Amino acid sequence: MMESAETQPARSDELEALFPDVEGVAVYESSSLLQDVAPHPAEAAFISKAVDKRKEEFITGRACARAALASLGMEPVPLPVGEGRQPEWPNNVTGSITHTRRVGHEFIAAATAFSDRAPRRIGIGLDAEVIQPLKDGVRDMLLTPDEIAAVEDLPVDQRETAAIAVFSAKEAFYKAQYAITGAWVGFGDMHVLGLAQSGTRQLAQISDLEALREIEFPVDCRQIVRNGLVISGVTVWTRL
Ligand SMILES: CC(C)(COP(=O)(O)OP(=O)(O)OC[C@H]1O[C@@H](n2cnc3c(N)ncnc32)[C@H](O)[C@@H]1OP(=O)(O)O)[C@@H](O)C(=O)NCCC(=O)NCCS
Repeated sequence: MMESAETQPARSDELEALFPDVEGVAVYESSSLLQDVAPHPAEAAFISKAVDKRKEEFITGRACARAALASLGMEPVPLPVGEGRQPEWPNNVTGSITHTRRVGHEFIAAATAFSDRAPRRIGIGLDAEVIQPLKDGVRDMLLTPDEIAAVEDLPVDQRETAAIAVFSAKEAFYKAQYAITGAWVGFGDMHVLGLAQSGTRQLAQISDLEALREIEFPVDCRQIVRNGLVISGVTVWTRL
């Protein structure tokens, strides 16, 4: 079935600005899920057992990703699911997909860019999270004690967004670094700084996780707040 006009992914300058140091980055987003659209034949097996909503978010995320790849001059290739659940991008491409649902709103987006920045390489991560209260137990798993203290130092009306900003920055970092390290990084391995500022934050490593030794720290994270979501873009660079 054909995609309807309103569900075509659209290029977003606002989201591309989350990757200010990445020349040629392309970000496409959609505010509705593609429905009754068949998956790419080479990707169908990855969602054959999924419920309809999951199929739709996967298909829409891949549609955003292929629109972004086209901006890099690339063919609409399949993007298989890797061992760590990551999308497998073509050689020399890095990218990231996110999809989030808030009552009455969908947000699906994908970013791509060339990864070879000789003599360095980059990985990019895009994440969106709904701004909502975190239960204490969940907050304590996602934020370090220092991050919780930094959130508590903010005016009351900023705390909920700030806590979600930490969470989203870490998820975007996880996706970006995975392209380079292929490693699991826990929420307690990283610390987000700059919560009192708006827009740009830094991620610092606070554990001695060896997998991250290739990455240049601190890592910048850009964030915007839009329609009840925190949307984060992280670029990781390999060390010189
Ligand atoms: C992988 C993870 C970050 C996804 O985030 P999420 O908020 O649950 O979901 P999002 O919609 O934003 O992103 C889902 C997309 O992430 C991508 N993704 C999944 N695993 C990934 C990985 N290992 N590397 C890169 N991207 C990955 C996929 O494209 C997925 O969409 P798809 O299955 O339709 O292709 C999250 O589920 C997770 O496992 N987090 C724990 C690890 C972590 O964040 N540690 C913090 C380190 S500081």
